[in-house]
Amino acid sequence: MLNIVLFGPPGAGKGTQAVFLKDAFELIHLSTGDLLRSQIAAQTELGVKAKAFIDRGELVPDQVVIDMIGTQLAENKSAKGFIFDGFPRTVEQAKALDVLMDKNNTAVSGMLALDVEKNELINRLLERGKTSGRSDDCCESVIENRISVYNEKTAPLIDFYSTQNKYYAINGMGTIDDIAARLKDTVKAL
Ligand code: C5P
Ligand code: MG
Repeated sequence: MLNIVLFGPPGAGKGTQAVFLKDAFELIHLSTGDLLRSQIAAQTELGVKAKAFIDRGELVPDQVVIDMIGTQLAENKSAKGFIFDGFPRTVEQAKALDVLMDKNNTAVSGMLALDVEKNELINRLLERGKTSGRSDDCCESVIENRISVYNEKTAPLIDFYSTQNKYYAINGMGTIDDIAARLKDTVKAL
């Protein structure tokens, strides 16, 4: 199986690029952000609880997202592989993903981390906010908080995957096509 962790700060282009990788390598795209937003739209109990965290740019508790991923893996047993977009976001989540992968007799193949300058992240998210309708793209204060949360809780995953020799830094600046080509070349070489 080919299991890619597509990594990077908010606005790095994970969702945009996941679509290209999914098509190129016939993978299943699992975006925890999208899964949470569909729970919010359906006004489920989980969605109502998650919304309070998402609106502030905070992380939903680890176990909630870990369970969501566990369910998706169980429902897609015959998949060729997965792209994890927006997950894991904490070391706890990364450890849980390793356990889940191991249970399915597979492993994370590589963590591809999109590097984008902070100014560019903020500009992209403010631009997306004009049309996304996402409460967390609304204003610079929430966006700044999401970037701080990323630096504090998510960036340590670079060390986590480096230790496993699975970390690949990708230049996330430039055109969507150029970035897609860089990612594809890296996946081919895994
Ligand atoms: O990945 P995405 O940017 O779409 O996530 C949007 C929001 O969903 C995050 O800012 C966070 O509030 C929540 N989230 C989370 N834990 C994850 C993925 C998303 O708390 N693993
Ligand atoms: Mg996304």
